[in-house]
Amino acid sequence: MLILGLESSCDETSAAVVRMGEGKREILSNIVASQIDIHRLYGGVVPEIASRAHIEAISRITYRALDEAGVTLTDIGAIAVTSHPGLIGALIVGVNFAKSLAFARGIPLVEVNHVKAHVAAAYLEYPSLEPPFTAIVVSGGHTSIYEVNSYTDFSVIGETRDDAAGEAFDKVARVLGMPYPGGAEFNRAAKGGDPSAVELPSPALHGDNLDFSFSGIKTAALNYINSLRQKGEEPDVNNLCASYTNTIVKAIVKKCAGALDKSDTRRLVLAGGVAANSYIREGLSELCKKRGAEFFVPSISLCGDNAAMVAAAGYFEYLDGAFADTSLNASANDNI
Ligand code: KG4
Ligand code: ZN
Repeated sequence: MLILGLESSCDETSAAVVRMGEGKREILSNIVASQIDIHRLYGGVVPEIASRAHIEAISRITYRALDEAGVTLTDIGAIAVTSHPGLIGALIVGVNFAKSLAFARGIPLVEVNHVKAHVAAAYLEYPSLEPPFTAIVVSGGHTSIYEVNSYTDFSVIGETRDDAAGEAFDKVARVLGMPYPGGAEFNRAAKGGDPSAVELPSPALHGDNLDFSFSGIKTAALNYINSLRQKGEEPDVNNLCASYTNTIVKAIVKKCAGALDKSDTRRLVLAGGVAANSYIREGLSELCKKRGAEFFVPSISLCGDNAAMVAAAGYFEYLDGAFADTSLNASANDNI
């Protein structure tokens, strides 16, 4: 069946048409209209501007996705929309648009959790992947480890107690003068640096848990930069990026190792915007090799926010019969 996916939880308006069926996963179109150029002027996402930009883009993007897929609304078997978590004003735009389209055209509607959608990106590229498995979602808003019990049922087994990894990358990148969002440029800068040049506190929380705290490493790096600047010096950007990345990767690998030890599934999925980081991909791939576990990570174009992943997650909600009605609303909260 064909699913129309719609995504507007943060700063990308996206619509996609995906063919899903038993063993069948085909992306017919996946249009992403990024607002990054607008928010870059402010050094971060401005929620009010994001909502307005979604309103301007969503109809155009949806009809482009249908055109590019070579289909019309009459071919669509279900509409899947991200309803939570995210920026509330941004989510409302997608939810309201999806409701209008679904109820005007008599198309079944399903709501999708954005974090579950990041994980579902892996199904698009690995048709053999099936729950149960362990998943880590690393994004601008999340750093959580899950036991994925079924396509729609997740249990949180570890999470950040404060900032997400993406925020921790973006904040330091901004102070280093990199344009928002700095994660990808930070990744490039790390390539020329010494990963042991700057000592930083680990974001892996002590004790028998799978939790993180990124506020300590973020503050330590900001203090390191500021104290050099007070002396009229500049940090070695490559060394700092390499050390910061290395400390984060080690923490992620340590907690994922703990998660694999606690689970007997022997499969790990890495997802979310920060899953584009080459060092995190490498670190977890090596961990899985050492532990004899299978490793799954979507290609970079499917790691960031996009509607194909929403359509994929929505397909499984559809199979569960979890249809939304006209009372569907958006929520900022992450009630997985
Ligand atoms: O999943 P996503 O597109 O949006 C949220 O749901 O939050 O993630 C965006 C985050 C941003 O913080 C961005 O800087 C980060 O992903 N990111 C990266 C890389 N590419 C994107 N972080 C580290 N290394 C990268 N290569
Ligand atoms: Zn996301």
